[in-house]
Amino acid sequence: MALSGLGLVIYVIFHMLGNFQVFEGPLALNAYAALLRDMPILLWAARIGLLSLAVLHVVLAIQLTLRNRRARPIAYAVREYRQASFASRTMATSGVVLLLFIIVHLLHLTVGVIDPSSVDRLDVEGHRDVYGKLVHAFQNPFIVAFYLAGQLGLGLHLSHAVTSSFQTLGLEQAAFNRLLKAAGPGVALLVVLGNVAIILAVFLGIVRG
Ligand code: HEM
Repeated sequence: MALSGLGLVIYVIFHMLGNFQVFEGPLALNAYAALLRDMPILLWAARIGLLSLAVLHVVLAIQLTLRNRRARPIAYAVREYRQASFASRTMATSGVVLLLFIIVHLLHLTVGVIDPSSVDRLDVEGHRDVYGKLVHAFQNPFIVAFYLAGQLGLGLHLSHAVTSSFQTLGLEQAAFNRLLKAAGPGVALLVVLGNVAIILAVFLGIVRG
């Protein structure tokens, strides 16, 4: 779970950095998106790798949850948490929220079945107008609310997951324990702030079509 999860975290960070091209204007973002599509073998290798990691991660999460339940079939009479943070106790819920977000996000911006109106438009350089698609999407308050809710799930999940995966991999050392503990919330905050900046920049008209 730790390795597949870290692979997905790396994707999420690079995805956000790539999406920052929206601040450079339509030609920059569309040229960046076209560059990725112009290398179909690499694109499909990355897509298949990503999908395999996601499926592996979900299957292992279900197995682990079932194994935990079997180990303690009778619930505790009193639940008093001393160490476990809110994020660690809600990993299954935030994971499901995140999975639903990703499915809807792909249907929305990649497949285009949720809002087909802007999917196949081209910009002046003949590239797919990914910039126009984003601007069109985040002008809609319902889509903005949905994406912000997705960021909540993402932030909660990452804030526990990153630190926990480092511990699973045995990186816990007295010398940099505090750094490891801060890594999860730190990565979560950076990714969520970055994504929220993109969404709100469009919604507030700072980035426009
Ligand atoms: C504000 C946040 C986000 C924005 C603005 C955004 C934007 C986009 C856009 C524009 C595309 C389509 C690219 C194209 O048509 O060429 C896309 C695809 C995708 N996004 Fe996001 N995304 C966001 C968050 C996320 C998150 C949090 C995840 C994962 C947890 C994610 C996973 C994906 C995946 C897997 C694809 C498909 C890539 C492919 O075509 O192979 N996105 N995103």
